[in-house]
Amino acid sequence: MSHGPAQPRTCRAATRLAGEVTVPGDKSISHRALMFSALAVGRSRVEGLLEGEDVLATAAALRAMGATIERDGDAWIIDGVGVGGLLQPATALDMGNSGTSTRLLMGLVASHPITATFTGDASLSKRPMARVIEPLAEMGADITASPGGNGNDRLPLMVRGMCPAVPIHYTLPVASAQVKSAVLLAGLNTPGITRVVEPVPTRDHSERMLAGFDARIEVEQTPQGRVIAIHGEAELRPQQIVVPGDPSSAAFWLVAASIVPGSDVLVRNVGLNPTRTGLIAALNLMGASIEEIDPRTVGGEPVADLRVRHAVLNAIEVPPGLAPSMIDEYPALFVAAAFARGRTVARGAHELRVKESDRIAAMRAGLEGNGVGCEEFDDGLAITGSGGEAIAGGGTVATELDHRIAMSMAVAALHARAPVTLDDSAPVATSYPAFFATLDRLATQA
Ligand code: S3P
Repeated sequence: MSHGPAQPRTCRAATRLAGEVTVPGDKSISHRALMFSALAVGRSRVEGLLEGEDVLATAAALRAMGATIERDGDAWIIDGVGVGGLLQPATALDMGNSGTSTRLLMGLVASHPITATFTGDASLSKRPMARVIEPLAEMGADITASPGGNGNDRLPLMVRGMCPAVPIHYTLPVASAQVKSAVLLAGLNTPGITRVVEPVPTRDHSERMLAGFDARIEVEQTPQGRVIAIHGEAELRPQQIVVPGDPSSAAFWLVAASIVPGSDVLVRNVGLNPTRTGLIAALNLMGASIEEIDPRTVGGEPVADLRVRHAVLNAIEVPPGLAPSMIDEYPALFVAAAFARGRTVARGAHELRVKESDRIAAMRAGLEGNGVGCEEFDDGLAITGSGGEAIAGGGTVATELDHRIAMSMAVAALHARAPVTLDDSAPVATSYPAFFATLDRLATQA
């Protein structure tokens, strides 16, 4: 699941972007569709699954624990083992670059009578796991992790599940859908009711999909935040799922069409779950031209097509309240800011430091190396925009095994005076294997 040799890539400017693009399946929803199907009793069918490396890592791990997962034409067929039925994997589970696979599957293993070792690439092995280790240990799992961070919480790590586990009432110390989902997944095979409180709402795909699989799950808004209660020893009923398009992948086209003069792009099949639409709100505040067409529901999630046309953007102070609903979109937003009129300030996003890379440092280095003025804060960036003019370009970007850094800087290159070089474009395969082919199709080369 590692990328092999680096694939450098030279990214050139475009005179305009035009045409239509259908974005690939949502990464978060794809992981969950496979996991919940693997836990159901019987056969589920998933259409629109993202076939990126991260999701394939989840599929491989679930197979190693007994589920049958096969591609059937454009769909995926999953024969689940039932909650409580996961088998002991024979070898270590290779999570590649995927934090979501790691944290959610740790939750699954935690309440099964099995032991699993999780390994990952250099990026994933630097990411903190204490945030999931703590609640899962409270539930009874025994987790041994590798040195790093304050509490030795890095991969490779081993989870010895506890069965029966102990239900907990857990308040999230960080706004993290991965931590919330890990606890809910552990709760599925735990007697009694496991509760998670989230003071700040994060993406709610797990809650929506668990309800769709007939789990008993209750969500209540309280003064302390959203309380999610999952009834354990659940029986999940197999489902037919259609995965909507990933707004985090659409983000690159929204920004690209906004910054390249003359552009007009129709982005089809964009998931618009309100816990994911922060970037669209921020771009609208900046004066972007984004039109929502044919709003509909796909797989229990709101979806629409988005027509984006070029617009000269204005700098904003990005409302920190938008952070959870655009946490993966900051790199793309920073690129939009690089072309805006004035200085954009985005703070309150400290979590960016612990994504696939330190996205604050990586985007600052990438933008500065291509002529964009940045100021770095512990929790964000200020970026001085070009007022719609081309940026200098000409730099080489260290993509740091981070798909979103690679795609964001490829977008910045579309309106630069000199080509921008990515030291390694291979990471885009984690979430958007067709990204460069799509870019070449939409862009008219300068
Ligand atoms: C995800 C949650 C977010 C996000 C990640 C996917 C998920 O991470 O950044 O790309 O599918 O639950 P956090 O839970 O760390 O915020």
